[in-house]
Amino acid sequence: MIGARPNFMKMAPIHTRMLNSAALQPILLHTGQHYDNIMSKVFFEDLQMPEPDIYLGVGSGSHAQQTAQVMTKVEVIMLEEKPDLVVVVGDVNSTLAAAVVAAKLWIPVAHVEAGLRSFDREMPEEINRILTDTLAEFLFITEKSGEQNLLKEGISPERIFMVGNVMIDSLLGHRKKAQDSDILSRLNVDEKHYALVTLHRPSNVDTPESLSDIFRAFEAIQGKMKLLFPIHPRTRKMLDAFGLRSRIERMKNLVLCDPIGYLDFLKLMDHSAFVLTDSGGIQEESTVLGIPCLTLRNNTERPITIEQGTNILVGTNSKRIIEESFKIIDGKCKTGSIPPLWDGKASERIVNIISDKL
Ligand code: UD1
Repeated sequence: MIGARPNFMKMAPIHTRMLNSAALQPILLHTGQHYDNIMSKVFFEDLQMPEPDIYLGVGSGSHAQQTAQVMTKVEVIMLEEKPDLVVVVGDVNSTLAAAVVAAKLWIPVAHVEAGLRSFDREMPEEINRILTDTLAEFLFITEKSGEQNLLKEGISPERIFMVGNVMIDSLLGHRKKAQDSDILSRLNVDEKHYALVTLHRPSNVDTPESLSDIFRAFEAIQGKMKLLFPIHPRTRKMLDAFGLRSRIERMKNLVLCDPIGYLDFLKLMDHSAFVLTDSGGIQEESTVLGIPCLTLRNNTERPITIEQGTNILVGTNSKRIIEESFKIIDGKCKTGSIPPLWDGKASERIVNIISDKL
């Protein structure tokens, strides 16, 4: 089951392994939470993932509308198909919706990327994570903190499996191919002479004050280094709603572009000087690529990227963002190492466990 952009690179390696396994017959279901070419279709091409077997076309809406739509439509499919297991990844609304429906139909749920906690219930994803983990029979975790969090929440240890990180399976599997992308020349940026920016968290982009403060930082940083900003549809909508578009267009050294496909984005990350982001996945990917990452949030559900990786939490206050960016531009970068089991074999471990248990 997949629904939104960050699900696709997590499910692709699991789905491939399942297709190649004699014991399993996967049905790939896409809820359609993300539906644009640039938010969905390009990822299937880049990841060589087959078209979904079932597409629900749920689309956008409030949290309740979106979750309810997925639940209603997924229930019909689960009753028809009667799967032995439902595999969900990550923490988006589609993840929770499918887990709730499956659990009530007594279909076991496997949650990939379980146990991550930001301890910030203002994040919709935190609610999705907690509830999905409560319902899941198999909890596949990416880092040690996941196990500690789940045990504290009373989940029994037999349900928890440390398998590594499927997102990194995709990254390692596509890193070489991504080098063929000509995205740097298309966007007119030079290797290591730009910072890559992504921004889409409601807490950062849904109020004019927070967006404005972050833009203050961008104004200062782009004086020293080119900023490349592929803009998420949610952020673009907010920029227009708050009348902030002209402010971003005035920044001469900031390149604004549409969201970018998987391979192009991987190449852009790999050749950037550093990344500025509020994404969860990019904190992990930059750690593996050894690229410094400044996370524009006050917390992270992925503490290993700070303890071991290249990630630094800089919050959303412009002063700190500028300070940390200037340090990197001056050559003072945080280095890191790759967390245990982020080795490209997580999907293999998951599929072996599922095949054994079913
Ligand atoms: C969702 C996930 C978030 C994930 C993010 C990655 C939840 C709660 N949030 O947030 O965890 O990090 O995806 O992108 O599930 N839109 C389009 N085209 C699309 C999809 C959305 O234009 O294909 C626009 C719509 O105007 C929509 C807005 O983006 O209202 C937000 O989409 P939505 O799926 O509600 O949440 P995201 O902010 O993308």
